[in-house]
Amino acid sequence: MPVSPSAVRLIDHLDRDHLRRALENDVRTGLTATPKHLPPKWFYDARGSDLFTRITRLPEYYPTRRELAILREQAGDIAARAAADTLVELGSGTSEKTVLLLDALTAKGLTTYTPVDVDASTLTSAAHRLTARYPALTVQPVRADFEHHLAALPRQGRRMIAFLGGTIGNLVPADRTRFLTTLRATMTRGDTFLLGADLVKDTTRLIAAYDDAAGVTAEFNRNVLHVVNRELGADFVPEDFEHVALYDEHDDWIEMRLRATRDMRVTVRALGLTVPFAAGEETLTEISAKFRLPGLRAELTAAGFTVDHAYTDPGGDFTLVLARA
Ligand code: SAH
Ligand code: TRP
Repeated sequence: MPVSPSAVRLIDHLDRDHLRRALENDVRTGLTATPKHLPPKWFYDARGSDLFTRITRLPEYYPTRRELAILREQAGDIAARAAADTLVELGSGTSEKTVLLLDALTAKGLTTYTPVDVDASTLTSAAHRLTARYPALTVQPVRADFEHHLAALPRQGRRMIAFLGGTIGNLVPADRTRFLTTLRATMTRGDTFLLGADLVKDTTRLIAAYDDAAGVTAEFNRNVLHVVNRELGADFVPEDFEHVALYDEHDDWIEMRLRATRDMRVTVRALGLTVPFAAGEETLTEISAKFRLPGLRAELTAAGFTVDHAYTDPGGDFTLVLARA
């Protein structure tokens, strides 16, 4: 049965003005810095979200399949331990994997699902799909930035906060600490946090996951340039930037960069800014940190959580950690 769009109402903490100012700020700061950088949340417009969905199906990109495998085995146990009536999911994207959690949690009394994402189109279509699939569940999508709006998310009920996909690894360590501490401060007794994190492994496999043969990740990486062109009237030629993925063994993270293939000057009209790029110059677009279980437990503990259980797939590629407030 088709669900009318009016059945789902988006709560929006990201009005156009806010987004616009944040993007302007990030682009001005990042493109005038040395080395240049652009923050990853701007990858995710409708096209970026579609490209990310394609990434999750690539043979090289193991994290989604591993996290799914853990959920298939353990969703029942997770749901029994959490006994949540509200699931809030940060960076929910298409909510594809969430269905496994929702099946298990609704069997244990879940009444509300609140997906939270910066991309409205993906959020709204996921909400419609899930409303149709779980007629008894209240699905309340929220467009918000999990680095700014944690305190504004719904607080009622016994909550499980889920943060899947290894997205925590996209925060630099200082931001990650701030995120965990802020999140913990919004949680009360009985609330749980389910965190998906990618684990340190063979470097060749790690790099392949972020530099696939079909070039989907490269296109995803360049999408940030399309977003800046469209939103701020810039004149990037995305094809003149090469995708670079490398693994930093000291920090245990993947770095995604865009390398200028020639000297160029890019004008960002809305900022009145002209930015020179030298041939070979690299702009950092994202890190994806990889974790070791003891370190991850220690970070959660330091932020005030009590780790309840850490699940891993048989190969030890990925972890889901269930922690309590
Ligand atoms: N949870 C899904 C999607 C992961 S991709 C999965 O595991 O497959 C990361 C998601 O986080 C994207 O949907 C992106 O739009 C969202 N996102 C990135 N930065 C965000 C931010 N600062 N606030 C809210 N959502 C964000
Ligand atoms: N959270 C995902 C990760 O770190 C996001 C991601 C996957 C990503 N592939 C990417 C981000 C490529 C930028 C470029 O695994």
